[in-house]
Amino acid sequence: MTEQLTVRNTTSVPILDALSDRWSPRGFDANHAIADEDLTAIFEAGRWTPSASNTQPTTLVAGVRGTATFDKIYGTLMDFNLAWADRASLLIAVTVEHERDGKPLRWAEYDAGQVAAHLSIEAQSRGLHTHQLGGIHVDALAEALDLPAGRTPITVIAVGQHDDSDAVSEEIRARDASPRSRRELTDFAQIER
Ligand SMILES: Cc1cc2nc3c(=O)[nH]c(=O)nc-3n(C[C@H](O)[C@H](O)[C@H](O)COP(=O)(O)O)c2cc1C
Repeated sequence: MTEQLTVRNTTSVPILDALSDRWSPRGFDANHAIADEDLTAIFEAGRWTPSASNTQPTTLVAGVRGTATFDKIYGTLMDFNLAWADRASLLIAVTVEHERDGKPLRWAEYDAGQVAAHLSIEAQSRGLHTHQLGGIHVDALAEALDLPAGRTPITVIAVGQHDDSDAVSEEIRARDASPRSRRELTDFAQIER
């Protein structure tokens, strides 16, 4: 049985549902397929993310489960991610250009992070979950995707539907069920009102 576990974060005031409900499971439903409209919307959300001087240094390369691109991305994850990411419905490689016309794009990775954030929230608002992965073999991923010189993979984002049934290993289910925490608001943000 597949269950949509809702983890609502404790916030001091209400915030957007998709933000307070977002978390990063490792247990995904290996039979789930993302509807076409949801798939397109995820990338639209990323496309409309702001970037420094609108330079748009981020390019996403993605494959749904069962495609050659999915397998290429999956094959370059670090061991601890290989244990669960194969059950995701979609794997997205986030790649950036660090310079253009000989000039550095100083905020390229910052911009890429925003793309990841925006598309994650769009996915969450559509009942999907995302899990970002820094544990990737960068050179192997660049080679597997045949990226042009100057474009570097930064992260991979797994997208899918959470599954906490026994189709998922006990270890992964225990990690998904473990408490999540954050720094206190007063430590995170020093605000003068
Ligand atoms: C840039 C980045 C890299 C991450 N790398 C990994 C990873 O390689 N493997 C993994 O299981 N989780 C990875 N995570 C997930 C974080 O551990 C997770 O987002 C964090 O613990 C907060 O949990 P939450 O997303 O459920 O709020 C990564 C997250 C980010 C943003």
